[in-house]
Amino acid sequence: MTGTARDAAVKAASERWLDADIRDFLSDSALTVGAGSPTDAGTGWKLPAGHPDPIIAAGGIPDAGTLPAQEIREALDRVLSDKPQEVLRYGGVLGFEGLRSVLAERQGRLEGLTLEPDNFIVHNGSSGCLDNLCQALLTPGDVVIVEGPSYSGTIRAIRGHMAELVEVPVEDDGLSVDGVAEAIERAESSGKRVKFVYLNPDFQNPTGTTLSEERRSDLIKLCAEHKVLIVEDATYTELYFDTEPPESIYSMANGQGVLKIGTFSKVIATGLRAGWVQARQDYIEALGRVRFDMGTSPLILHTLAEFIQSGKLDPHIKRMRPVYAEKCAVLSNSLLEHCEPYVRFNKPGGGFFFWFECIGAPAEDVARAAAEEGLLFPLGTAFFLDKEKAVDSHVRLAFSNASLRQLAEIGPRLRAAFLKVVD
Ligand SMILES: Cc1ncc(COP(=O)(O)O)c(C=O)c1O
Repeated sequence: MTGTARDAAVKAASERWLDADIRDFLSDSALTVGAGSPTDAGTGWKLPAGHPDPIIAAGGIPDAGTLPAQEIREALDRVLSDKPQEVLRYGGVLGFEGLRSVLAERQGRLEGLTLEPDNFIVHNGSSGCLDNLCQALLTPGDVVIVEGPSYSGTIRAIRGHMAELVEVPVEDDGLSVDGVAEAIERAESSGKRVKFVYLNPDFQNPTGTTLSEERRSDLIKLCAEHKVLIVEDATYTELYFDTEPPESIYSMANGQGVLKIGTFSKVIATGLRAGWVQARQDYIEALGRVRFDMGTSPLILHTLAEFIQSGKLDPHIKRMRPVYAEKCAVLSNSLLEHCEPYVRFNKPGGGFFFWFECIGAPAEDVARAAAEEGLLFPLGTAFFLDKEKAVDSHVRLAFSNASLRQLAEIGPRLRAAFLKVVD
């Protein structure tokens, strides 16, 4: 075949693809999960057109004005100067051992445990941890129990692994353990296997609630009885305002039957993309077995180890607690002053989120009217398994990144929104 004929044949072959539909090639997973929302991805909210002073109270991201950029740069410079070859090559399946050793020391100190580096695997944020856990634990059709409502990214990740999700209500004291017992019994009586319960027990996203100590021990007992693992997402644990949350489920259970997820995203910066699973060594070994991404960036993990070892992390977190406490208080006062009797809420004791019930109008109408006032936030229904069927009564406001001026302004804007839509 001549070069020209070959070119024509290749062109004709390529053209056969023009009307091909990618959906014919997709996995069941890709067909099931659908497109994500800005809330799942923590970014991407569009500014409302035409408003001179928009406020976006949407993503769970740290305060932009206090990011420790300078300290991170210094740590990065040091590791690049001191050990360039080491930080610029692959770092191994579990992640840089030096960082895992720092984590073992730090989590051991915080939780009163003896931990080893091999009790940790490091991933791309807690999201990477959850994906790896699902990969290692789930066979399509397994049941996973989640909180209703739950962080929307978690729902997507578990759904992407073709598990059957079952939602159990979150109450003022956190996840209903009676609800978990019923869900386990229902699944078991229909011959299904419940693999794990996923929960975010401290300053939960989106409700801001904290699981009581009593419920923690009840959950541990229940799950041990049914041999159901607990996945404890501790994303906001260290970001309490005044009072520490109760002992971790991991620590109460002495690491048996519990896999704990932690992250640097909220205590330092989401752009680091570094989080970890803390678990028994045989669990960690199993997670490593199904990791195929060649590990998390050694450059970032060395930088983090350097940042922590030079004593920068603990003071930074200590400085952030009153920053978030004040932001939360300003938002709460603004809502109390301007939005009664249209809102009902419990003030959280930490974390990034405020969850409130809209009284007198559906949350969707309130959110639409608020957008006209230049105020954006996600609807509560975004955090339930079935957004269509979920009761349209709540919204989630993130106070972590908005300025104090903006937070004080939320009450008046919401009041204007309520006045437009309440009967
Ligand atoms: C409860 C919870 N888990 C996990 C994540 C994901 O965080 P990361 O940046 O560590 O992947 C978030 C982010 O908002 C979250 O709220």
